[in-house]
Amino acid sequence: MSAAAPQPSAPQPFDFRDPAFLADPYPVFRHLRATAPVFKAPLGRWFLTRYEDTATLLRDKRFGRGYHDPEAMVRRFGPTAMAEPAVVELTHMMLMRDPPDHTRLRGLVTKAFTARRIEALRDSIQQLTDRLVDKVAERGGMDAIRDLAFPLPVLVICELLGIPEADRQRFVTGSSSGGALLNPTPPTRAELDRANAGSIESSAYFEALFEQRRRDPRDDLITQLVQAEEAGDRLTTAELRANVSLLFAAGHETTVNLIGNGFHSLLRHPQQWRILRDDPTLVANAIEEVLRFESPVQAVGRTASEPVELGGVALARNDIVVALVGGVNRDPAMFDDPERFDITRKDLRPLSFGGGIHFCLGAQLARIEAAVVFETILRRLPDLRLTDPDNPKWRPSFVLRGLTELPVAWTG
Ligand code: HEM
Repeated sequence: MSAAAPQPSAPQPFDFRDPAFLADPYPVFRHLRATAPVFKAPLGRWFLTRYEDTATLLRDKRFGRGYHDPEAMVRRFGPTAMAEPAVVELTHMMLMRDPPDHTRLRGLVTKAFTARRIEALRDSIQQLTDRLVDKVAERGGMDAIRDLAFPLPVLVICELLGIPEADRQRFVTGSSSGGALLNPTPPTRAELDRANAGSIESSAYFEALFEQRRRDPRDDLITQLVQAEEAGDRLTTAELRANVSLLFAAGHETTVNLIGNGFHSLLRHPQQWRILRDDPTLVANAIEEVLRFESPVQAVGRTASEPVELGGVALARNDIVVALVGGVNRDPAMFDDPERFDITRKDLRPLSFGGGIHFCLGAQLARIEAAVVFETILRRLPDLRLTDPDNPKWRPSFVLRGLTELPVAWTG
């Protein structure tokens, strides 16, 4: 167990919506870890920046989600929580449930989400990647987000779920929701309104698709889940809708940022790009280093289900604890010289896919997508470089960390 930590109750020293913080949150994380690694912020929230505390948070059964408790939901999302369609939808997602509901929901989805089905997607991922690169190869430059990092994961999750070809283009040209409800502070009215509108629209779309698959089953994940719903009490209609929406959103809103952050980190450190070009067998390790260095998911939260001690600090029942993953992944107790980006590091175990019972269900898929993209670009566009290296455009979103655009070139 770690040594007792100081417990300052100083005002929150950072604002999750501040563009300067979003551009570079790492000095704040360093400061927190050095001064208050288990930090109490206003609104009864605790923030963690140490690896060991986070590993405990994710695995200790005394920390759960608490989404079944309306009181906890009001503290998290504000007084109207249970009247907001997007919040109600969240409460049905496996990501937000505790056992036994979590075990039931994850079990059903895992059955459809087999390692064999994922591995079988590798060829389509390669074909989709080649097609996207074909479209831009002659141009000499592209926006690596718009032209590659965003469309690829969207097309892959569409394929896996069984979204009809004719509908895919609208998702490819659409935008991500931004994950405002995942932020560690209560959402604003405008953020709730946007999330509600997105949730209502996607529910209507998926309802219609479920109806088609009930009439005309196919060999896809949606059909399998619809059949689980039809089999009776194992999956309610609200759970079916919420978990398909979860898979769809989690399937691309994170992977786009793994690929985008990957190109950004590798090209900001041209020496590392050259090392990878000379030895593409390092791609798998480079992906782990990208996950560590610029985690696409920057925070995971839990609620204490009883009084509990963490990192030497006493927490009360219903306290919300948020691990700042981007900071945790740079804990010097776990990683040597953690602010250095180095694709040859050994024994990388970043917590970017979480841990414990909620460990990311799509980790293998995300790693395959990123590997195919990096291998393809190293082979086909080895001279890739950033055209505006000093001006990265970070998205106005804390939990889902990524770039809105990433101009790159390979000729001239
Ligand atoms: C780089 C890409 C990805 C990252 C960084 C990521 C990260 C995460 C994290 C941190 C969690 C756990 C959150 C928590 O414990 O609070 C999680 C859970 C989850 N992820 Fe991912 N994810 C990625 C890609 C994907 C993909 C491609 C899919 C699906 C196709 C997916 C589906 C899920 C699901 C369903 C859960 C909930 C699991 C549960 O509650 O048991 N993720 N992900």
